[in-house]
Order: sequence, then C-alpha cells, then structure tokens
Amino acid sequence: MAGDKVVETTGLLGWIDHRFPASKLWKEHLSEYYAPKNFNFWYFFGSLALLVLVIQIVTGIFMVMHYKPDSDLAFASVEYIMREVPYGWIIRYMHSTGASMFFVVVYLHMLRGMFYGSYRKPRELVWIFGVAIFLCLMAEAFFGYLLPWGQMSFWGAQVIVNLFSAIPFVGESLSVWIRGDFVVSDATLNRFFAFHVIAIPLVLIGLVVAHIIALHEVGSNNPDGVEIKAKKDANGRPLDGIPFHPYYSVHDLVGVAGFLIVFAAIMFFAPTMGGYFLESNNFLPADPFKTPPHIAPVWYFTPFYSMLRATTDEFTWALVAFAVLFAIGILLSKNVRSPWKFIWAIVLIAVAFALRIFDAKFWGVVVMGGTVVILGFLPWLDQSPVKSIRYRPGWHKLVYAIFIIDFVILGIIGTKAPSPMLNIISQVGTVVYLAFFFFMPIWSRLGTFKQVPERVTYRPH
Ligand code: HEM
Repeated sequence: MAGDKVVETTGLLGWIDHRFPASKLWKEHLSEYYAPKNFNFWYFFGSLALLVLVIQIVTGIFMVMHYKPDSDLAFASVEYIMREVPYGWIIRYMHSTGASMFFVVVYLHMLRGMFYGSYRKPRELVWIFGVAIFLCLMAEAFFGYLLPWGQMSFWGAQVIVNLFSAIPFVGESLSVWIRGDFVVSDATLNRFFAFHVIAIPLVLIGLVVAHIIALHEVGSNNPDGVEIKAKKDANGRPLDGIPFHPYYSVHDLVGVAGFLIVFAAIMFFAPTMGGYFLESNNFLPADPFKTPPHIAPVWYFTPFYSMLRATTDEFTWALVAFAVLFAIGILLSKNVRSPWKFIWAIVLIAVAFALRIFDAKFWGVVVMGGTVVILGFLPWLDQSPVKSIRYRPGWHKLVYAIFIIDFVILGIIGTKAPSPMLNIISQVGTVVYLAFFFFMPIWSRLGTFKQVPERVTYRPH
C-alpha cells in the first residue's frame, strides 16, 4: 500500500513467506482488510455461517466413523451413535442442531443483504455466489435428511424425488435415474450419502471461498450503503475503514459467544425443538409399507414447500394473469428496447399458454425452484437510487415487513397438514412473494428518498 513500508519477515515465517504468501494473505484478508467502522450486529452472521460450516464438517467426519450407509443398518447405526459411542449423542445433536442453525444464520445473513442493498453494484457476484451457496445448502440438507433412514427421511425423499416425475416427457425416467430404483431404496441411500459427505461439501467450500474472495475484492458494504473506498487518506486507506483484525475479529467473537450460548441451550435442553429440528416420526425406522399421516419437510424448507402446494390447477390461472400482465407491462415500458420488447412479450404469452397445457404439479416444481432462483436476480430487480433501507421512503420498510411476515406465514403453513383455508392463505402468500420480486423494478424507484451521507454514520460507544 502507498506510504507503507514493506517489512521483510525473518525466521520460520520468512522461510514460509519465500515459498508461500502466508503474510501477504494474512494482511490482505485480515490485518489490512479495511472494513467500514459502522458494522452492527447484522454483520455477525457471515462469520457465524463460517463457524457453523466448520461445526458441520467436524461433527460430520466423526459421525461417518460410525454411520453405516446401508438401508438395513443405517437406522440402527444412528441409534448406536446416540447410545453406545462415547459422546456420540453430543456429536449427533451438534450436527442436527447445526443443520437448523445454519439456516437460521443464513436466512438472517441474506436478510441483512436485502436491508442494506449489499447485492447492488459492485457486489453482484458476492450475492450470486451466496445464492449458489444457499442452493447447495438446501441440497446438502435434503440429502443428509435421508441418512438416518427414519420414516420422515424415507417419505420426505419419496415425495421430493417424485416431484421430478412431473417434468413433461422426461420426468418419469428422471426420477428413476435420481433414485437408482423405482422407489427410494438402498441404492438411493448410497448415492445420497456420497452427495452429502463429499460432493456437495466440496462445492460448498469452493463457493464459500469464492464468496469471500469476491467480497474482499470489492470491499464490504455497511448499514449506510456508503462506499468507503470513495474517501481515502494520503496512504490510500479508506477514511471510514478499520482493519478487520483485530477490530472485527474481536467484535465477531462477541457474536460467536452469544451464538454458542443459544446453540448449547438448544443442544442440551431441546435438541428436537418440539419436532421442528428433529421430527418425531423420524425416530421410527423407515417403513416403505406405512405412509405417515402427515409428511412435512423440516422448517427451513417449509416456505418453499407451501408455495409448491399452493400451485393447484386453479392457481395456475393466477400465474397466467401474472404472465399476461407482465407481457403488457413490457410492451408499454419505455425502458425495454424494441426487438427485446416483442421477444419478451412472446415468451411470456407462450409461458401463459404452457401454464394451462402442462400439469399443475409441474408448475408447482417450477414455482418452488423459481422462488429460490429469483433471489439471484435481486441486483437487477432493485432499481432504488439508494442502497440501504435507512435512506428509503418509510413505506419501503413496510413492504419489507410484509415480505418477511409473508415468508414466515408460508413457513408456518408448510408445517401443517393441508386444508382448504390454509391452501387459500398459501396461495395469497405465494402471490405476495412473487409480486415483491416481480414488481420490484417499479416499486423500488417510487417515493421520496433521504439524502445519503458522504461518510458513514458512526457513534463511538
Ligand atoms: C455457508 C454460507 C455462507 C457463508 C459462510 C458466508 C460468509 C460470509 C462472510 C464471512 C461474509 C463477510 C462478513 C459479513 O458481511 O457478514 C459475507 C458477506 C456477504 N454474504 Fe455471505 N456467506 C454465506 C451465505 C450467503 C448467502 C446464502 C448469501 C445471499 C444469498 C450471502 C450474501 C452475502 C453478501 C451480499 C455479503 C456482503 C455483505 C455486505 O458487505 O454488506 N452469503 N458472507
């Protein structure tokens, strides 16, 4: 950095530095990574996600030492871990609590990104890597859930893999190919095990590394949404930046301590969390001849599961209306140029027709997948002149509040057995969810925005 003197390292570190950029990496990513000085508690969740990732990998390694990926032995091997392996129960409860806490932390981490517009230029790739991480996490949790070979493991996998059979033309063969059999079986357990313990974790770790490299390339955003790199001192250091280490390494330890208290409390006093973290039906061995009365995924999937169930035949009419409205909107828009206008309109009308041709079950799968993937488009959907929610019109906060409440309601409904009333609520919830994103290019520009300060706002405490 300009003005800084380069200190030659000596001794063992010097020996390493001549062969591997240890000091350089330490400086670039920790002691000379300048982070905005106004981080608040929302910035705990990135490091907490890293912590949970490590917890999952370490406890997972110990579980693999005793677990048997065989449909005749799997259930009993988990019981063996719980009852016979010294401290096996702690390892297993850390892993099962860790799975749910991973999603708690990641949902809050994503919400922070949405509040402060952290996905906006120049952090689009940080966000896209994040969405890919989220998809991987979902896959990881889904594959892992089959491994204890309990009733919910078996029937949950059966329901979700069956969804693929709704895909036109190739669906049936695809679901047999995924399972490796006509029903969920030993072959399925073996491949899910391979994906859960090695394939997905490898991709996940690679994506997390890419996520952090991309973030450190552009620098962190902050609660004001002000780019600290715009104002630097004579040495080229951001005026509003402080070195990540020791300031935020210590700050993050406070988050870690608070998190571990909650984590330990759950693990020791309520590891099943009343059936939300570990479902009671999963304490029964898988029985292909006995369908449980109510099959529900674990809580972190339920908002998306609700949207899948909401997509009934009548509901596809609402989606047709969406597609037609959108086509009209694009045709009337002054922002979309001529050839693209018509191409988009034709595509949307084709979608509207397809909605009535293919089965609602298929569209349920599209809605479920689409509601996750749409997150990746946020950097372009959000057209607000400011990044952070702090400087947006008051009613934008209300829109975010409605979105959060909607997501929670969808999550609650997804845990319950279907009923006509709940179905209607989940359909309204799905429309609200989709409208939040689809109409964002319009609503995010509207209203009176507050003046964004030139420097971050910070009160020493
Ligand atoms: C295993 C999961 C994840 C890990 C370990 C992880 C890790 C991190 C870390 C360490 C940071 C820097 C500290 C912080 O800003 O909190 C960060 C920032 C960020 N992450 Fe993640 N992340 C994960 C998942 C996600 C997901 C799913 C998304 C979004 C879909 C996301 C979006 C972001 C964004 C936008 C930032 C920059 C925030 C800012 O500068 O304001 N991350 N992440």
